[in-house]
Amino acid sequence: MPPSKTLQVELTDEHAPDATPDATAYCIFTDEPRLSPAQTPDDPARRTVEDLLRAGEFKGEADDTLIIHTSDAGTPPHCARRVLLVGLGSHKDFYPDGLRRASGVAVRSAREARVRHLQFVLPGVEHGNASELVRVVAEGAHLGFYENDFYQQHEEGDQPTLEQFTIAAAPDDQLRAALERARIVAEAANWTRALADEPGGSLPPREFARRAAEMASEFGLAVETLGADEIRARGMGGLWGVGQGSDEPPALIVVRYEPEGARAEDELWAFVGKGITFDTGGISIKPAQGMEEMKSDMAGGAAALGALRAVAALKLKRRVVAVVPTAENMPSGRALKPGDIVRTLAGYTIEVVDTDAEGRLVLVDGIAYARTLGATRIVDLATLTGSIIVALGDHRTGLFSNDDEWASRVEAAAARAGEPAWRMPVSDDYKKKIESPIADFKNYGGRPDATAAALLLSKFAADTPWVHLDIAATSWHEESQPHAPAGATGTGVRTLVELVRG
Ligand code: BES
Ligand code: MN
Ligand code: ZN
Repeated sequence: MPPSKTLQVELTDEHAPDATPDATAYCIFTDEPRLSPAQTPDDPARRTVEDLLRAGEFKGEADDTLIIHTSDAGTPPHCARRVLLVGLGSHKDFYPDGLRRASGVAVRSAREARVRHLQFVLPGVEHGNASELVRVVAEGAHLGFYENDFYQQHEEGDQPTLEQFTIAAAPDDQLRAALERARIVAEAANWTRALADEPGGSLPPREFARRAAEMASEFGLAVETLGADEIRARGMGGLWGVGQGSDEPPALIVVRYEPEGARAEDELWAFVGKGITFDTGGISIKPAQGMEEMKSDMAGGAAALGALRAVAALKLKRRVVAVVPTAENMPSGRALKPGDIVRTLAGYTIEVVDTDAEGRLVLVDGIAYARTLGATRIVDLATLTGSIIVALGDHRTGLFSNDDEWASRVEAAAARAGEPAWRMPVSDDYKKKIESPIADFKNYGGRPDATAAALLLSKFAADTPWVHLDIAATSWHEESQPHAPAGATGTGVRTLVELVRG
């Protein structure tokens, strides 16, 4: 994969002599379809835009855009030749999620229109403090800039190029810090997306581990990867079992972040991410249709690692470890068979009723391993079940927990991050679904499977405060969006960073 491009996002003092954008973006609210006087004192396009808004030709619906060419706009150096109107929806839900999205939409439509330098005028300054608005807009711009066309050939000069995105606000230290935070977090999310968009063939467990180690050394993180023999020797029969059918050996990736001055008795938070680099289903093989999407069955693992990357770059004050059990789920002469029983690190045995319910088999070993490292709190992230897609669709991540206080902290962090999660039950009411007549547990017992899977995981989290995020739906866009290409979303990274920030 070639190095990913990054967008230059800056603040611009409108009166700086080099501020000559090709286009200026104005956000329009549905419940206030006009330009605010403070924002556009001397844009010569003002009249045209006002006429157009008055005529109802642009209503400000979320995701709508309109580009206007303005012939008389060239005189003052800071006025753009084109105006890009971006719909924000109504005031009540524009901040922060509508705004983040609108700035992503602006980036993508400006790029399509071959704008090189886009200036973005902040809306709703009366609603939020300027540095939060700047942060959200910058985050949206970096996220909107992400592309997953790394395997596509492009002729020289045939590609739309957006290089610069400037936010119209006089720079000061606070705003610069907001920009920097946005860049770190969004680039971590985009790094995660690139991993989840990578085909299974080019990202087997050892390559996943190599990419994690490369990132760790760039960001000053400690990394240790356990290989197949060690996984077996230590008794991680869940992870070993799922990996045994593949020619690619499984691995356990462990990346640690220790803030400056950390003490051994400080809390240690573990982010455990499912890292199935490709999920064929194994012997309980999946239908062909849509199976290619299973290249992103390591999105949870990539999010855990991406979060560590951002936490390290932001130098947050919390000991955190990412634990990523990674394997390829393949059918072969050596593969797990339905009915096999695996013995896990925690000592419990699990009857493998369905080899396609592999995520929980690797996660229970990841969770147990995190506890042996001394984790005091755990969040796991996993593209775990089709069942959560049925329950919540891709607008909410399923959140399961054994601890109300920890659950509400993660839920609040997810909301702040714009990655909303919805609490689902963990209860022995559902225990029939995981009871086996011949082993301690079984890995599948019918619907409701998202709940049963979470209940199984909870037995391995035991008394450690734990949250499980089922991101099967939210980690992936089936279709391209106004603010994102079809493919990986990077969900979880922003939530975890918010959680660590507190
Ligand atoms: N990785 C899948 C879950 C999944 C499905 C993620 C669709 C993203 C999109 C998981 O390993 C799986 O195969 N789950 C099965 C389990 C069942 C067959 C026991 C499912 O949910 O269908
Ligand atoms: Mn599966
Ligand atoms: Zn899976």
